[in-house]
Amino acid sequence: MPASGGSWWSDSKRAAGHNLAVKPLPALPDGAIDWDLVGVRYHDHVLSPFAPEMVESRNLLLNALRTMDLHGLRVADLGCGPGNLMPYLAGRVERITLVDLSERSLELAEAAAEEAEIAAEVYRQDLRSLEIPGQFDIVVSVNSILPPTRSDVVGILRCVHRLLAPGGRFLAILPSYDTTVYLRALTGEAPAARLADDKNLAYADDGAHVQSYHTPESIERELSEAGLVLDEPPQKVYYPWELTRRHGYGHFPDAPEQIWDWYVKAGRAGMMDHK
Ligand SMILES: C[S@@+](CC[C@H](N)C(=O)[O-])C[C@H]1O[C@@H](n2cnc3c(N)ncnc32)[C@H](O)[C@@H]1O
Repeated sequence: MPASGGSWWSDSKRAAGHNLAVKPLPALPDGAIDWDLVGVRYHDHVLSPFAPEMVESRNLLLNALRTMDLHGLRVADLGCGPGNLMPYLAGRVERITLVDLSERSLELAEAAAEEAEIAAEVYRQDLRSLEIPGQFDIVVSVNSILPPTRSDVVGILRCVHRLLAPGGRFLAILPSYDTTVYLRALTGEAPAARLADDKNLAYADDGAHVQSYHTPESIERELSEAGLVLDEPPQKVYYPWELTRRHGYGHFPDAPEQIWDWYVKAGRAGMMDHK
């Protein structure tokens, strides 16, 4: 069951103006995240690299895509959600493969692709047991590799490996576990043990749904287990405090750094980037 009003952020911190609050994501009767509902009002629910404040230059994945000639390339978006990526591919790709488990999000993504005049092939599948035909030059995944266990993370990355054409590239933004540790240091508070698991880098940022997060070390190790290799060390995608405060992650403008997720660019081991 989702937490009902419970929070490990103290009221005093909230009162102190840090704007810390747990905002439970909508949940299904069995307690799982209701991604259909999230998809419909995505930016109300999710701190996203596709927020208006992020897309001009902070979203390093978009920056990378902007430097690439995508025409004629086979592109897939794994965990596409409501299709937030689509407007940025308009006029740059002819077709795209969209994968998500949420039916409603897929409908929205398909509509977003149509709006961007991109032909979409849509698969409602679990990324942990993905079986879609073909291979891709570019596989994108933005904040969607968040399964319950670390072995599921590797399983998803193995699917990415299988989907990548020789020389193809995997571009991802992965939710950062380091950010949760950093936020803990900023707030001076210890989260409840069930909500943050430092060993498995598992975290319930909405106070209810524990998901696997990532650090540079886990990213490198798990990519390698899946036969993938980083082109460059993971880079921080920073969220401005004005945006994070609106999502209950706090407001610490005097802190040394803003909070971040990890931008990752990788390919199959032994395969040069053909772009
Ligand atoms: C945080 S949202 C990201 C959506 C989109 N990539 C974006 O950044 O706007 C996570 C998405 O991943 C999907 N998802 C989560 N776990 C999944 C899984 N195991 N298989 C397929 N889709 C999954 C959810 O349905 C949701 O649409």
